[in-house]
Amino acid sequence: MDIKWHSKSKQYHLYNDKISYIMCITPLGDLGNIYFGKRVHDKADMSYVVNRFGLPNVALDPDTESYSQELNRQEYPCFGATDFGTQAYEIETDNGSKVSSFTYLKHRIFKGKKEIKGLPATYASDDEAMTLEVTLEDDLTKVTMILSYTIFEKYPVIARHVTFSNKGTAQVKLTRALSMCLDLADQKYEWMQFSGAWARERIPVVKELSAGSVSIESKRGISSANQNPFVIIKRPETNDFSGEAIGMSLVYSGNFIAKGECDTFGRLRLLMGIHPDRFTWPLKKGESFDTPEVVIARTDEGLNELSQTYHKLFNNNLVRGKWKNTPRPILLNNWEATFMDFDEERILEIAQKAKEAGVELFVLDDGWFGERNDDFAGLGDWVENPKKLPDGIRGLARKINALGMKFGFWIEPEMVNPDSNLYRRHPEWALKTPGRKSSLGRHQMVLDYSRREVVDYIYKALKKVMTNASVSYIKWDMNRSLTEVYSAKIPPEEQGMVYHKYIMGVYRLYEWLRADFPDILFESCSSGGNRFDAGMLYYAPQAWCSDNTDAIDRIRIQYGTSYGYPISSIGAHVSAVPNQQTGRSTSIETRANVAYFGTFGYELDLNHISSEEFEVVKKQILFMKKYRELFQFGTFYRLRSPFEEDQAAWMVVSEDRKKAIFALYCLRSNVNQLPGFLKLAGLLPDEKYILKGEEYYGDELMNMGVTLGRLNPNGMTIGQDFVSYVEVLEVK
Ligand code: DGJ
Repeated sequence: MDIKWHSKSKQYHLYNDKISYIMCITPLGDLGNIYFGKRVHDKADMSYVVNRFGLPNVALDPDTESYSQELNRQEYPCFGATDFGTQAYEIETDNGSKVSSFTYLKHRIFKGKKEIKGLPATYASDDEAMTLEVTLEDDLTKVTMILSYTIFEKYPVIARHVTFSNKGTAQVKLTRALSMCLDLADQKYEWMQFSGAWARERIPVVKELSAGSVSIESKRGISSANQNPFVIIKRPETNDFSGEAIGMSLVYSGNFIAKGECDTFGRLRLLMGIHPDRFTWPLKKGESFDTPEVVIARTDEGLNELSQTYHKLFNNNLVRGKWKNTPRPILLNNWEATFMDFDEERILEIAQKAKEAGVELFVLDDGWFGERNDDFAGLGDWVENPKKLPDGIRGLARKINALGMKFGFWIEPEMVNPDSNLYRRHPEWALKTPGRKSSLGRHQMVLDYSRREVVDYIYKALKKVMTNASVSYIKWDMNRSLTEVYSAKIPPEEQGMVYHKYIMGVYRLYEWLRADFPDILFESCSSGGNRFDAGMLYYAPQAWCSDNTDAIDRIRIQYGTSYGYPISSIGAHVSAVPNQQTGRSTSIETRANVAYFGTFGYELDLNHISSEEFEVVKKQILFMKKYRELFQFGTFYRLRSPFEEDQAAWMVVSEDRKKAIFALYCLRSNVNQLPGFLKLAGLLPDEKYILKGEEYYGDELMNMGVTLGRLNPNGMTIGQDFVSYVEVLEVK
């Protein structure tokens, strides 16, 4: 890994063993792209790439009359001069003009990586990464921008963000400040996004890229289940095991946009960042603005390798604290067992049985505070309901601990019900637009986290509940999109700051609570997977993946999630059947066989299953305890897609490649078929593995595959709907 500055040609070359990212100071003085791709030799001058000519209908720089931004790949363009593509940023000045012209001022190359104040971001030691910061200045306004690029030693990854600072005297307005623009030399790629809705999150959707553009966005104030802030660009022939692909993951949890734009010269522009709609950031003299970070990864070895890069990078350089690379406790959550209808006695009855099964952590979900007996009331009143918990959270935690389990509980700190003491006292603390109706979502409103005193108040209230109680885990929920966004506190010209300030407020509260309670395991949640993004992983290393706990639907949801996020981050539980969301019944084995590939837990009352099933549950917990490190932190491979076949398969492999676990699921049985083979991946070709008591070479299992007839003589044919297998293989 190194970052080279070639002063004569004014070129930068960031490289590691796998990738090269080459930029130049253009004839206009701003930053242009020369190349991003597989590692190439370092060369002092590659300016032959720069086009210094005109074409019909192309506007040229008046000083040289030989350079057009339109004909050259840009690093961070604005609209208004000679670039006609989608702009990365826009600055409005006093006189209403929006044309900017930033030129090179200086640069800095250093080891490691800096934090982005108040925002989540990957981090790296001096050995793990190098950073280039290029400072450009707009001569007219004296606004500067720092374009920051970090390259990692071990990963084919570039992390980028931008800092704007007003060094002039007049105020300007930032009306767009994306995190990246990447102009690629050709556009023969496909666009892969992860779309969905509540209970069907992160389903891969592949689109053709051709003349015009493709984009996804969220304007819900949360990253959303509708579109995830993670996109892959891949060659049409790229699959899980081979081919080129580039990923873009935004480390941010609020409104975003991602766009792929094909120009008429065969090139592709990629953009990602905060959504510019309802975003205006006044920059007064001396003020600065940081964009969120975007993590760009690249591979020539297929989508599994791309996913593995994100999994490892996020586990090693994004997740922080005690739970970084630490296997997660097996939990039981009471939500689907009781909803809000419980008292302490009932909770302890469920907990007692959970303990007998071997569960390590009991989680009390929604309904323990205020007048929270249904969805209509109580949010905002973070005081225990004495009718349900006579000894409060502290008392219940003590009793759960006495049973021999850790204790955790649910909060939804960003919300308030109109029927709550907090709203009655502070109606102005909810986001609402003067003179307009306030839409409700699940009968609740969103607190104005752009206001410091609101975050402060909630922090104190939660801290009070958590202090002196033995709390090991918090599930932080968020159950509606933001609407009528307007803050009663600030003047009209600052209303364009509210969406971003809101999410900064959320991050601030996370940071405070994490600092006070460093050992607590946070799990983020947003009606399931409505806010499953890299930003959240900086604070909460795992996220409740979906409210849909049906094993068969979960295969699809977890499969889609695995493209961009580590298995250790995927909250996955075994719930009761028929499933609450789909009505489908699957065996207790299949439900666990899916949930193993996640953080693993139960979400049902174990008193209500048969004694035979209870014995199975006990074995499942023992099995997960033995292998959870491998499940959660092993190298993950997708093997067979539930979106393409009636079967799905995936596997995890240990770091030394001597141990592996694969899973095969039958989504739908097919009559009159041969059992077939399942090709494994990631094994040592020359080693002999024991699988179901028999020896197989690694290359045999990877190239011929596992003969499915040996798992089940019927193969996956008649009567095999929802049957599944999880098999361990180990070198002899
Ligand atoms: C939505 C979450 O996704 C559920 O798991 C549960 O915590 C409920 N909220 C509680 O209201």
